[in-house]
Amino acid sequence: MLKLSASILSADWLRLGEEIKRMEDSGCDSIHIDITDGHFVPNITMGVDIAEAVCKTSKLRTDVHLMIARPQDFIKKFADIGADLILFHHEATTHPFEMIKYINETGKMVGVALDPATRVEDIEHYLHAVDVVLLVAVCVGFGGQKYIEAMDSKIEQLAMMRKEKNLDFEIQIDGGINPGNAIEKHKKGADTLVAGTLFFRSKNVGEIIKQLKEQ
Ligand code: DX5
Ligand code: ZN
Repeated sequence: MLKLSASILSADWLRLGEEIKRMEDSGCDSIHIDITDGHFVPNITMGVDIAEAVCKTSKLRTDVHLMIARPQDFIKKFADIGADLILFHHEATTHPFEMIKYINETGKMVGVALDPATRVEDIEHYLHAVDVVLLVAVCVGFGGQKYIEAMDSKIEQLAMMRKEKNLDFEIQIDGGINPGNAIEKHKKGADTLVAGTLFFRSKNVGEIIKQLKEQ
C-alpha cells in the first residue's frame, strides 16, 4: 500500500498549523520535517522549536530528516520533542552503528538517509538495524527540484537487497515527486513518497492523494 509523506519545507509557514491539518484531512500518512544547518547542506530551514510545534500538533507520524553535521548531538533533543522517526544521514557520520544505538536508546524509529551520490551498498551492512531507508532524489536541502532519474536504479537495488535479506524496512523516496512520476517510483519499490511542492503548493491535495492511492 502506497504511503505519502508531506514535507513541510514547502508549506505556508505563517499558517503551519492549518497546513498540517490540511495534510491530515487530505489523507497523508506522515509529516516530514527537514532540518538543515547551513553546513552539512548549504541551506538553513527550521530548527528544534518549529519541529516541536509540528510534532505537538500533528496527529500523523512525524519523521525528522536531519540534514546536519554531528547528528548525534541532536538525536535526544528531537526524541524529547516528540518526533516518531529520526533519520540521520549516512554521510554525516563515520559511526552509523553508534547513531543507531543512540536512536534505539530513545525508543524512536531509526532511519538512515542517503545523498543522491551515495551507493546503497554503503549501508548494506546495517540495513538489518533500521526501520526506514530514505533515498534523497534531488540536491539535498532544497525543495522544488527535478527528480534525478539515476535514483530509479537505487530504489530497485534497495528493494532487491531487502528481499534477498528477508528484511522489512520501509523505503522512502524524497524529492522531485510529481503526479506523473509518483506511481512509477512506488512500483519500483518505494513504499513511501515524500513530497513538499506537490502537496503544499496544490489546492486540491485531497484529490491528488486519492488518485495516487487508487492506482
Ligand atoms: C530535500 C528535502 C525534501 C524536499 C522535497 O532535500 O529533503 O524533503 O522538501 O521537496 P520537493 O517535493 O519539492 O522536491
Ligand atoms: Zn527531506
